[in-house]
Amino acid sequence: MTGARILLISGSTREASTNTAVLRTMRLLTPPGVTAELYAGLTGLPAFNPDDEDHRPGPVTALRAAIAAADALLFCVPEYAGTLPGSLKNLLDWTVGGGEIYGKPVAWITAAPTGRGLGAEATLATVLGYVGAVAVEPACVRLAVHRDMIGADGLVTDPAVRAGLTAAGAAIAAHLADAVPRSDAAPRNSP
Ligand SMILES: Cc1cc2nc3c(=O)[nH]c(=O)nc-3n(C[C@H](O)[C@H](O)[C@H](O)COP(=O)(O)O)c2cc1C
Repeated sequence: MTGARILLISGSTREASTNTAVLRTMRLLTPPGVTAELYAGLTGLPAFNPDDEDHRPGPVTALRAAIAAADALLFCVPEYAGTLPGSLKNLLDWTVGGGEIYGKPVAWITAAPTGRGLGAEATLATVLGYVGAVAVEPACVRLAVHRDMIGADGLVTDPAVRAGLTAAGAAIAAHLADAVPRSDAAPRNSP
């Protein structure tokens, strides 16, 4: 697929986030013909309320449009208290009714130190499965990223991590190249 677009979604709201640094770096490491955009609206999303489905807040409309416009999603998410950060779960809850993720290729990078972050990773896989996403397994990788691997420019400097990100981007591109075009997505779990 030429002109493929990946939407990068960080689960951290921290200014100096390691997870966001990983995705910021990923933007520069996509294969030729693939572009990646970093979603920047996490902190602007209101708390999910099913009553708002018929008059959705602007940030939610923007989120759903960004997801719908993307060919694939790539997450990088910290673990909070053994699972996803609430803000990221809130984002995912807003997508349930819209169905934009249904049938969409997704992957996730786990940047926590080795042996950590597995609760967040497992929950993310469960929730994305629930909303009908298609996991691109070869692109779901664990790349331990320490804060001293991030340069003053906010990019990951470590060559091994950068190689892992490059490989993950290539795996998503290969999946998209092989994919049968999706029919219009229909929400599987609409309330
Ligand atoms: C409220 C809170 C809860 C956390 N809970 C966990 C946890 O359960 N397991 C873990 O490995 N790290 C935990 N951490 C550490 C974060 O996952 C870690 O600092 C991560 O690098 C933060 O990502 P960021 O730099 O992208 O913001 C927690 C941090 C905070 C602030």
